[in-house]
Amino acid sequence: MSNTPVTVTVTGAAGQIGYALLFRIASGQLLGSDTPVKLNLLEIPQAVKAAEGTAMELDDCAFPLLRGIDIHDDPAAAFSGANVALLVGARPRTKGMERGDLLEANGGIFGPQGKAINDGAADDIRVLAVGNPANTNALIAQASAPDVPAERFTAMTRLDHNRALAQLSKKLDVQLDDIKKLTIWGNHSATQYPDLFHAEVGDKIAADQVDRDWLENDFIPTVAKRGAAIIEARGASSAASAANAAIDHVYDWVNGTQDGDWVSAAIPSDGSYGVAEGIISSFPVTSKNGRWEIVQGLEIDDFSRGKIDASVAELVEERDTVKKLGLI
Ligand code: NAD
Ligand code: LMR
Repeated sequence: MSNTPVTVTVTGAAGQIGYALLFRIASGQLLGSDTPVKLNLLEIPQAVKAAEGTAMELDDCAFPLLRGIDIHDDPAAAFSGANVALLVGARPRTKGMERGDLLEANGGIFGPQGKAINDGAADDIRVLAVGNPANTNALIAQASAPDVPAERFTAMTRLDHNRALAQLSKKLDVQLDDIKKLTIWGNHSATQYPDLFHAEVGDKIAADQVDRDWLENDFIPTVAKRGAAIIEARGASSAASAANAAIDHVYDWVNGTQDGDWVSAAIPSDGSYGVAEGIISSFPVTSKNGRWEIVQGLEIDDFSRGKIDASVAELVEERDTVKKLGLI
């Protein structure tokens, strides 16, 4: 076991996802059971006391890997020396707010956080934006961090990926492990495209094992609108499953993905598959040596092309809006 702890900064630490996430990080599930961690929690001043309560509970778990907890309301202090940044805290959409208002409000959070990452984080910083609109929030943070390699800014579509795995496994009555190469393309929003045309179950393509009506009219909308369905049922947005997906994303980024499979993550586009360069869009990805790589060479038919293009168009529109607002 290494003695030097990895510093993990979590924003929105006193929120719902924070509460589901911090204990799993501290127990070693984010980075591995050999890696000690130090937690830096960032909250707004009004929520610092609640974060202190969570920190007391973390102490009370006596996790052997947890080497310290600091709580901050200042991004510069919170990201100082950070190796991993989980950007969870965000401004939720409230009544009467237009999408542009939401992007602007989040620019006020993710811009300064990006700058703090730029100025103070460790050289190997890896950033995951979870707070919505996650893809564009990641882009805003990235734009404020010109000295950090752009590829270190990512957004979470692993929850969508896991949701798609669960729906398909139920439909085909197969184990989750039997499903490989599933992809979420595009935005973490209702335009996302869960792709079964490259997914494999056994030796066969998943799309060939389900009827087309289910694929188009049940599977895709169920996965894409699952976040809204959870809010409707729970009266609050997904928290434990979101925290679980954040753990999966960072664990795979740091430790590598399984041979013969891939996962989904929103990473800066290099133009692959005709996705506008620079936007942070979900792709089929593998992780090797601590870097995400886009899986290349997949054939995209007209149906998939239309779905990918629609979600990418939404991301381009979000990018153009934040550009006009001077946030990137
Ligand atoms: P929550 O409201 O319970 O908690 C958010 C926390 O963020 C609050 O404690 C708040 O005080 C804090 N916060 C607000 N502004 C901050 C700032 N500037 N700095 C630090 N902390 C700040 O919300 P939640 O349920 O934990 O969800 C958090 C975000 O994650 C939301 O935007 C939600 O939509 C999003 N989400 C994303 C996914 C995904 O798959 N990408 C899934 C679920 C939820
Ligand atoms: C989710 O996918 O569960 C969330 O992004 C939904 C939301 O709007 O918070």
